[in-house]
Amino acid sequence: MYYRLQEYCRLVAGARRGAIYNLQTGKVLSINQGALQLLLACQQSPLEDVLDIRAPEDKTFVDFLHRLTEMGLGSFYLDKPAAGRAPAPAAEPSKLNFLWLELTSSCNNKCLHCYATSGPCADSDAVPHDRWLSLISEARAAGAGAIQLIGGEPLLYPRWRELVEKARAENFEFIEIFTNATLIDDDCVAFCKRHGVNIATTIYADNAAVHDRVTLNPGSFAKTMAAVDKILAAKIPLRIASIIMKANEHEVKNIMDLCARLGVEVTPPDVVRPTGRGDDKDLLPAAYVKPPIRPPFYTDPETFDKAQRCHTCLDGKIAVTAGGDVIPCIFARSEICGNILASSLADVLNGQRLQQCWRTTKDQVEKCKDCEYRYACTDCRPLAQGSDSAKRWLACSVDCPYNPYTGKWEE
Ligand SMILES: C[S@@+](CC[C@H](N)C(=O)[O-])C[C@H]1O[C@@H](n2cnc3c(N)ncnc32)[C@H](O)[C@@H]1O
Ligand code: SF4
Ligand code: SF4
Ligand code: SF4
Repeated sequence: MYYRLQEYCRLVAGARRGAIYNLQTGKVLSINQGALQLLLACQQSPLEDVLDIRAPEDKTFVDFLHRLTEMGLGSFYLDKPAAGRAPAPAAEPSKLNFLWLELTSSCNNKCLHCYATSGPCADSDAVPHDRWLSLISEARAAGAGAIQLIGGEPLLYPRWRELVEKARAENFEFIEIFTNATLIDDDCVAFCKRHGVNIATTIYADNAAVHDRVTLNPGSFAKTMAAVDKILAAKIPLRIASIIMKANEHEVKNIMDLCARLGVEVTPPDVVRPTGRGDDKDLLPAAYVKPPIRPPFYTDPETFDKAQRCHTCLDGKIAVTAGGDVIPCIFARSEICGNILASSLADVLNGQRLQQCWRTTKDQVEKCKDCEYRYACTDCRPLAQGSDSAKRWLACSVDCPYNPYTGKWEE
């Protein structure tokens, strides 16, 4: 007799425990070391060689196999089942799909936490307008379908409208401007509406006193909210982001209520990340935390495969800074993979540094590499790197109380 997991199940070993990934339901089931070893042995040998079905000391294992069968995760076979799945076809190399363009490092706000260290005095802008235009064409040719104009404050870049027109002419499917919205006027709203541009902005409170204490720009809240009204009246798709730090940690509910009143999607705000001016322990909120990583974990066939080949978030993304540097994400400021003033975009995309970033998997990450949840769990490399005292790219994920070496979730 033989025992095999179903064709849609995958067994993943961790240092102390294992997990069965059910790619049909998406559920991930944690199993102990004994169960893991049993299933690994069953993959290799007939059941009779692995355990004695009638022996009292093996009853727990037999019961376990019956339980898995009832759960639809495995089956007994009288004859040896045909060899497992054919090996997966070689994965396509990654392609660019999304890029951020940081049009300027300048900003009229001076937010306490700004990862880009933007403000009125920032002056690292070096990309000529023609290079932004040619870059948009190169990015489209490389496969990108989505683009975001960001900064600093992108509306301080005098010719931003021409870049939107260029992206439209190149048939980008998704164009977004991430702006503090203080400079948005009727003309700007009409332009975005005409060109199908989405807008993202940020609020730090539902009142001027706290919001302006974060932006260090008196009057900014009133301007941002006036713009939000105009954008919503024009029915332009709007996202509102919010970041929580000590200065505004009591505003979480107010921000979420305000977004709900405005009819804008509400998600619990993120905590300030340790990058740029945000890399300052004094900014951290005293009590507000994002919920830590915890089971249940879920997956799907595509994500499961992707998690073994490349980074599930970074793959296919780049950010281009106002100085022309290419980094894998707006928060990964130190991971410079090339510069579009010195090279074509294609050369940077094919370069080893960016490819390595895109191919970072949890199989390389400290602690996670020994965890059975590693192909279902999310990851933010810039956050892990920024939080690490030695700023290592492969530092373990933050906010995870799981210890894969003991198999225990710590309090
Ligand atoms: C750098 S800003 C650029 C766009 C625009 N100036 C704005 O503030 O909306 C983009 C987003 O990054 C957020 N941000 C800035 N520094 C951050 C940090 N250290 N951690 C987390 N988010 C941060 C801002 O709050 C804003 O929502
Ligand atoms: S977070 Fe945005 S608005 Fe604030 S200083 Fe940075 S770029 Fe400017
Ligand atoms: S963060 Fe790492 S250690 Fe924690 S559950 Fe996810 S993969 Fe496992
Ligand atoms: S989750 Fe992390 S890696 Fe992904 S875009 Fe956000 S900051 Fe970058």
